[in-house]
Amino acid sequence: MSPSSTPKFKNPRARFNFQGRTVSITGVGAYVPAKALTNYELEKMVDTTDEWITTRTGIKERRIAAKDEFTSDMAAKAAQRAMKAAGVTPDQVDLIIVATITPDMVFPSTACVVQQKIGATRAAAFDIEAACSGFIYGLEIGQQFIMSRSYDTVLVIGAEKLSAIIDWTDRNTCVLFGDGAGCAVLQSRGKSHGLLTAVMGADGSKAELLYMPGGGSRCPASSQSVSSRLHYLRMEGKETFKHAVQAMVSAATESLRRCDLKITDIKCVIPHQANRRIIDAVGDRLGARPDQLFVNLDRYGNTSAASVAIALDEAVNSGRIHRGDLILLVVFGAGLTWGAAVIEW
Ligand SMILES: CC(C)(COP(=O)(O)OP(=O)(O)OC[C@H]1O[C@@H](n2cnc3c(N)ncnc32)[C@H](O)[C@@H]1OP(=O)(O)O)[C@@H](O)C(=O)NCCC(=O)NCCS
Repeated sequence: MSPSSTPKFKNPRARFNFQGRTVSITGVGAYVPAKALTNYELEKMVDTTDEWITTRTGIKERRIAAKDEFTSDMAAKAAQRAMKAAGVTPDQVDLIIVATITPDMVFPSTACVVQQKIGATRAAAFDIEAACSGFIYGLEIGQQFIMSRSYDTVLVIGAEKLSAIIDWTDRNTCVLFGDGAGCAVLQSRGKSHGLLTAVMGADGSKAELLYMPGGGSRCPASSQSVSSRLHYLRMEGKETFKHAVQAMVSAATESLRRCDLKITDIKCVIPHQANRRIIDAVGDRLGARPDQLFVNLDRYGNTSAASVAIALDEAVNSGRIHRGDLILLVVFGAGLTWGAAVIEW
């Protein structure tokens, strides 16, 4: 369908007769900081045990960025690796989207800092904030720009320095999270379908299950906000757990339904890496075999927006996914937000 033409102006999109095109991930890359913080080290920091963390979460260790290593540094390294895998040079990048809840600064965007660090001087750049669901939200946003032929090459990056907003005296949260970054290069690759669908959802009525009270316009930084520890992440673990399982199962089911696929058609399910028990419950309810699920949270913990991006990179590079395979990404996070995406690799 093409809008009626008018002689008064030129619509650049009319050039393509408004036809869409498919969008694929043509390269992935990830970066995690060198320092691993083990459960045994946490035992010395708070009242916890390796046994509790392992049985309640499945996490054994997480990576912690250096003091002078910021979200943009990890994002830039992941981006450079993904660009290399895709055979993309910095001058080809049209747009950089960074999904993060731990930007270098409130503004400017971390995406702008990354643009400078990777030398992608032509690229537009902005951040999005959908917490742990940010990478799928970013894929869906990036896809729109390519499908509409506004851009040809988009970097979608999930990157977090969660260690900067963790209360290291709170055993309920500090054992769960880690730092890292992952990136996908989005381009149209003629012969494959690429991203088939992405489901995105949100429920703002449950915002306070997982949030950081201080630092925004509602509660700007003050000596009182600092002494009340308002600049740290807070979470109601049990409630969050329940909603995570429910939302991930329904998003994944909806994404499969839209593509007329069964779970058995999927080669690899890459769930948000928050808790092994959440992953297993979601896998069970979807009817997935354990060998379909990709899990790396034992080594990284929950890296929020970076989580499925890092897992996707590891799944590809360890040979779990090959060209033509169908994969399912499924995420959940603060907001609340959730999402699922089906991709022909
Ligand atoms: C946080 C989580 C691991 C806690 O597991 P749980 O089985 O729900 O545990 P509970 O909340 O019932 O806590 C049980 C006990 O362990 C204690 N506990 C909490 N953290 C602990 C720790 N690190 N070490 C030892 N004990 C701990 C609690 O204080 C509680 O003690 P109490 O019964 O004396 O009050 C789990 O709820 C979870 O993973 N929730 C989802 C979190 C998440 O994924 N967030 C990110 C979403 S993107």
